[in-house]
Amino acid sequence: MRIPGFYRLSIEERRARVELSPQARALLDGGGLDLETADRMIENVVGLYALPLGLALNFQVNGRDRLVPMAIEEPSVVAAASNAARLVRAGGGFRAEADPPVMTAQVQLVAVADPETAVARIAEEKAAILAEAEALSQRLRERGGGPRDVSVRVLSRPGEPDGGVIVVGIDVDCRDAMGANLVNSLAEALAPRLALLAGARPGLRILSNLADRRCVRVAARVPLDVLGGPEVRDGIVAASRFAELDPYRAATHNKGIMNGVDAVLLATGNDWRGVEAGAHAYAARDGRYRPLAVWRVDGNDLAGRLELPMAVGTVGGALRAHPCARLALEILGVASAAELGCVVAAAGLATNLAALRALATDGIQRGHMSLHARATARPAAAGASPSITREVSK
Ligand code: MEV
Repeated sequence: MRIPGFYRLSIEERRARVELSPQARALLDGGGLDLETADRMIENVVGLYALPLGLALNFQVNGRDRLVPMAIEEPSVVAAASNAARLVRAGGGFRAEADPPVMTAQVQLVAVADPETAVARIAEEKAAILAEAEALSQRLRERGGGPRDVSVRVLSRPGEPDGGVIVVGIDVDCRDAMGANLVNSLAEALAPRLALLAGARPGLRILSNLADRRCVRVAARVPLDVLGGPEVRDGIVAASRFAELDPYRAATHNKGIMNGVDAVLLATGNDWRGVEAGAHAYAARDGRYRPLAVWRVDGNDLAGRLELPMAVGTVGGALRAHPCARLALEILGVASAAELGCVVAAAGLATNLAALRALATDGIQRGHMSLHARATARPAAAGASPSITREVSK
């Protein structure tokens, strides 16, 4: 959504400008969480830990305007995302698509005497395994999801140091849930049958965070005149090539993407560690760590695309517990996990574009440090006792 001058308004004026209800304002004043709720969410709670929640502007994804909530401690990320989204908007906005929301449960089978026979027996029984998985996921099937496929791989053979090890993958369409609980339960329930079929002992039973069946792809184009001319464009392409040639640079390039991705995930109550794990494993999928987003010249314009696994949900998980996460989803206005994934990826491509543009022109420090100076101009450890301040500053 375009709201020129938003950053110049006071917090109250910003809230009014985006029409936040009195309830939403009250919720945001306190960070959305009370001690009692927090105590039910995790263990050994002693308090709450707040982060700023900002709104990134100018985002248009698949023709729809979006206000993008971001929870993040790092200055300049929200401004960077908004600025980059304005450039992309001039080129028609972000175009994004998401795979069906399929997660994979892994059942590891160990002490397999004859892995090849075990693989063949599981393959023969695939229909029966899927039928049992379906019976176990009645409610998910009512929502249009459910088990989709079973696959088996040999990881190690008898005589090798790990002995006979195979892994069974059960693909499950989780619809609008991130799906960890769903697929973990299925993995645990199916393990005894699979172990029996394989003549093996069950090992681990857990989802894979390398959710490469559930990728999202986003593309963006910035017209040359909006970008600031051919030197800026070519500088961004050279920066992309640098990341493609050097894994040390690729890690930092991807960090700039995850600045946008994680901030939206955190705001919407999603498991950002899971998406991080999947993103970096995906970046190294061919044995070499690569950038998740690349930029090229297309016609005269700059064009970029980003692809990464996106295990996100709009139901269940922390979303149920955290009212701020629910509010963030309301502000975003997404109707499904797939739509959320598209916006998350657009935020990642935006923060990547902003970082490369700054790096290829003025350098990152000028813009970043002026916002950083603003952030650190206030007393940081207000309320901390002198002894605690001394401890943490050691
Ligand atoms: C800082 O949070 C992110 C950057 O280092 C990303 C990049 O170098 O592309 C600026």
